[in-house]
Amino acid sequence: MITTNITKAKKALINDEIVSIPTETVYGLAGNAYSETALKKIFFLKKRPLHNPLIVHIKSVEYINNIAKDIPEIAMKLAKEFWPGPLTLVLKKQKHIPDLVTAGHDTVAVRIPNHPVALALLEELDFPLAAPSANPFGSISPTSAEHVLNYFGDQLNIILNGGECSKGLESTIIGFENNIPILFRHGSISIEEIELCVGKVIIKTNDDLKPNAPGMLSRHYAPSTDTYLTDNVVELLKTFSGKNIGLLLFKNQIEHKNNIAQEVLSKTGDLKEAAKNLYAALHRLDKSNLDIIIAEKFPNEGLGKTINDRLERAIKK
Ligand code: TXA
Ligand code: MG
Repeated sequence: MITTNITKAKKALINDEIVSIPTETVYGLAGNAYSETALKKIFFLKKRPLHNPLIVHIKSVEYINNIAKDIPEIAMKLAKEFWPGPLTLVLKKQKHIPDLVTAGHDTVAVRIPNHPVALALLEELDFPLAAPSANPFGSISPTSAEHVLNYFGDQLNIILNGGECSKGLESTIIGFENNIPILFRHGSISIEEIELCVGKVIIKTNDDLKPNAPGMLSRHYAPSTDTYLTDNVVELLKTFSGKNIGLLLFKNQIEHKNNIAQEVLSKTGDLKEAAKNLYAALHRLDKSNLDIIIAEKFPNEGLGKTINDRLERAIKK
């Protein structure tokens, strides 16, 4: 059920139960990162393959030394600049981090969420929280407590309500090779912002054969309705005449003789606002009994790159 009772959430987590928590990016399915019992429950609930590692959520920058070692200087620079916030760092793991968290890798993904409820909860706990996004594997991430409830119903005893996520896209994931930052997943912080802090970033987000991150699989973040992505919505609309269509648009509605469902993500053309609204709009379209969804391509800059990345993974292949 949906609640705001942090004490109840704390008790459940101490008992190795799973709690859905709000973060500024998307809601998570959180469990004690040091408890095999809790970790197994996360994978089971999410139907997530065990070879996909989880992000560890911690409460302070100093706490990172309990999780990771041999931390590059540029990683600390990024942490100090962006934490708490939507940046996940992939670092060499401390020995005691369970293999279930890291999928047996010698690296661990870690971040400090920037949400008052998540931070208050972490402050109450003497262990960090492993948490993937609170959606079944492959589907659209949740940006409200109601989205989580729709996915999991009474499989989850506690969904902590923290309102709508302020960012609405997952964290940006950065690893390091020879002290050079590597982008593993586009996210809520643009590459441009990362590069302003630490210089050139190498992008490695699109390797279907050996995905470092499941968020990199070519079909992910996907609605159950067939979805198409195009630069020219009007043209594509013509080829689907007679179908029940929903549109996902950046700034402007489309003139159309029939009354079709249209979701405009930011009337003022603000990419941050569009990012915040993206998943909620996809959830609404997906629940509207449409034959297809047509999404408009976004400008390929700043958060537009992350939005395009998610839309490309949402499309019918
Ligand atoms: O914004 C977020 O990051 C949200 C909130 C809840 O914090 N979490 C999230 O988790 O998106 P999830 O599990 O849906 O995606 C985590 C990503 C996965 O793509 C996973 O493969 C990657 O992090 N990851 C975890 N550990 C990794 C590692 N050691 N190396 C590379 N990628 C890793
Ligand atoms: Mg996810």
